[in-house]
Amino acid sequence: MIISIDSLAEKIRNNIINISTKHKLKLVSVALEPDKATLAYLNSQRNLSKKLNINYEIIKTNSKEELIETIKKLNDNRNVNGIFLSQPLPFDSHEVSIYIDPKKDVEGITPHNLGNLIYGKSIFKPCTADSVVRILNNFTEIDGKRVAVIGRSVIVGMPVSVMLASKENNATVTICHSHTKNIKEITLNSDIIVAAVGHPEFITKDMVRENSIIIDVGINVVNGKIVGDVEKSVRDIAHVTEVPGGVGEITSLILFENLTKTILYK
Ligand SMILES: NC(=O)c1ccc[n+]([C@@H]2O[C@H](COP(=O)([O-])OP(=O)(O)OC[C@H]3O[C@@H](n4cnc5c(N)ncnc54)[C@H](OP(=O)(O)O)[C@@H]3O)[C@@H](O)[C@H]2O)c1
Repeated sequence: MIISIDSLAEKIRNNIINISTKHKLKLVSVALEPDKATLAYLNSQRNLSKKLNINYEIIKTNSKEELIETIKKLNDNRNVNGIFLSQPLPFDSHEVSIYIDPKKDVEGITPHNLGNLIYGKSIFKPCTADSVVRILNNFTEIDGKRVAVIGRSVIVGMPVSVMLASKENNATVTICHSHTKNIKEITLNSDIIVAAVGHPEFITKDMVRENSIIIDVGINVVNGKIVGDVEKSVRDIAHVTEVPGGVGEITSLILFENLTKTILYK
């Protein structure tokens, strides 16, 4: 069974266009020596920006120093509403994300916004984590549910766990990672599973309860095709988001939705 994201996507799209038709908005994506895959992703971002009536620019840099200088200039540029830092980087992204103005941090990745997430007061929530939580809220009641989050990265696993366990959502969360013993026992005891591992077919049918809800965050390339972290057959017994098209589609839209919120801070 597939979890449809269509109504949520349409709602977010309409919210964005409502504001982008009244306000001039610009997103700048900065990348360090982008490879083909990165450029393909940034071009898909450009295509989406056109559909959403948002100005868009890609800036390519050649060194960490140039990347930081570019970010500082963008912080001071009043015509730029938001900054997207293309990842992965060949060093800890914290070394660069600390320079992004939190009010232009539409990805919600700066230490300021991530720290404030714990207080429930961040200006912008990390887009992928927010995508997971909003897909869940659109589909089910989260309050009181047991959730297994597989993955503890700074941009996905950790923030999604904080958000689900917050007083806004009231889930009981178990965070699993590469040192977790017997993940199957944990997933079988969960109503909801968030798979953010980055291993194709990591979640198999024997690991999930019937009628459970599974959010597949994974994006893996296998034989030139994009696949998630959840084996296809899991759909026979549980509700699962699609890859591509599920979390990723909502994540891309939330980035632009966050951009529309920057008008509050100008
Ligand atoms: N759809 C979207 O919008 C979107 C956005 C971002 C990322 N993604 C995708 O989501 C996936 C995760 O991304 P990420 O940035 O969070 O990746 P990441 O930084 O590589 O983190 C992966 C996490 O999975 C855990 N892990 C790895 N092997 C494991 C195992 N055998 N058992 C249990 N846990 C294991 C790791 O544990 P340790 O901490 O112990 O190493 C780590 O916490 C990737 O496929 C990525 O492409 C999708």
